Amino acid sequence: MHNITIKFPRNPRNVYVGINTLSQFGETLGAHKVGKKGLLITNATISKLYARVIIESCQNVGFTVDILELPEGEQYKNLTTIQTILDKLVENKLERKDFVLALGGGVIGDMAGFAAAIYLRGINLIQIPTSLLAQVDSSLGGKTGVNHAKGKNLIGSFYQPIFTFIDLATLKTLPQKEIRCGLAEIVKYGVIQNPRLFNYLEQHASQIKAEQYTQDLEIWEYLVLQSCTNKAYVVAKDEKESNLREILNFGHTLGHAIETAFEYTYYSHGEAVAIGMHAACLIAVQQGLLAPNIQQKIATLLLNLGFNLSIAPIQAKQIETLLFSDKKVKDGKLRFVLPTKIGKVIVSNEVPAVVIHEIITSLIEEQK
Ligand SMILES: NC(=O)c1ccc[n+]([C@@H]2O[C@H](COP(=O)([O-])OP(=O)(O)OC[C@H]3O[C@@H](n4cnc5c(N)ncnc54)[C@H](O)[C@@H]3O)[C@@H](O)[C@H]2O)c1
Ligand SMILES: [Zn+2]
Repeated sequence: MHNITIKFPRNPRNVYVGINTLSQFGETLGAHKVGKKGLLITNATISKLYARVIIESCQNVGFTVDILELPEGEQYKNLTTIQTILDKLVENKLERKDFVLALGGGVIGDMAGFAAAIYLRGINLIQIPTSLLAQVDSSLGGKTGVNHAKGKNLIGSFYQPIFTFIDLATLKTLPQKEIRCGLAEIVKYGVIQNPRLFNYLEQHASQIKAEQYTQDLEIWEYLVLQSCTNKAYVVAKDEKESNLREILNFGHTLGHAIETAFEYTYYSHGEAVAIGMHAACLIAVQQGLLAPNIQQKIATLLLNLGFNLSIAPIQAKQIETLLFSDKKVKDGKLRFVLPTKIGKVIVSNEVPAVVIHEIITSLIEEQK
């Protein structure tokens, strides 16, 4: 099992990454100072696949673990579901030294994490991410929370798990469209700070696109390890998102607006972020920050991985209105993360609105 340390100045945290390791989870937990009782929070799909092996491995080393299955889907990521979790924690009389296990994708991780943060002002939390997006992104860094009717992730807190436990074999059961969500984040790490990862993606694009993850777990092992190392570096330097973490928003400024403009149905997060990264590269070229051949290289990689880089027919204005109402807009100015070469980005609030308009318009497909 690989072990990546997130070097938070006061409390370093470990991320364990391995293949077929769920049966060793109990032992790993036993090496940490926690109470004897826990609650495993998951949903029915993931429960059927992976809950039993984890609970048994915990029981084998003397822990008692109850299970709570939440309804599946982003639409349940709200305060009502948090209440359900809190009721169960109270009912089971868990104490602060006891633990919550978050087993699932980002939705489960964000909700179980938030409930763990507020129950008794913080109970031990362990993230066991099973989606690619959760393994390379949401389970590291400590952001937890739920959606509000007025917007995504508006309610939440920073709360670090005592460790994150990744078994790559869980990817074998992940639906293909979910793999692509995590893949966009992996490309992001390559462009913002990891040229070696970028080259590796270029060299293995055809296997990755062909979804050969079932056979080639070592490809995913490399991609997840590199991504976790990159995210660990960034979040350790900026735990509460006051500066460096902003680079993780590469592709997300426009990506979020596209997701929202299409009401979260047409584009998955990863597909929207891929278009957002492409647009950011075009802006960088227009601003004289990025060489056109490097922009081409990034676009080619995204295409070779199977991403579509144009936007389905829509009014540019719809996207632009959403862009400027994003919670990350500071003093009315949009902030874009722009690459200057592979592995290096800058943050700019100087991109003229007219340039943004031109580039969005150029990416929108004509109505057929
Ligand atoms: N906290 C953060 O820093 C952070 C970062 C990025 C995204 N997020 C949040 O993460 C969420 C998206 O996460 P996601 O993409 O993992 O979606 P998700 O949690 O909805 O999981 C996607 C689907 O895959 C299923 N699934 C997960 N693992 C599986 C497996 N191994 N086998 C079979 N099915 C499996 C889930 O049940 C679900 O139906 C969003 O709510 C987003 O806001 C949080
Ligand atoms: Zn993202």
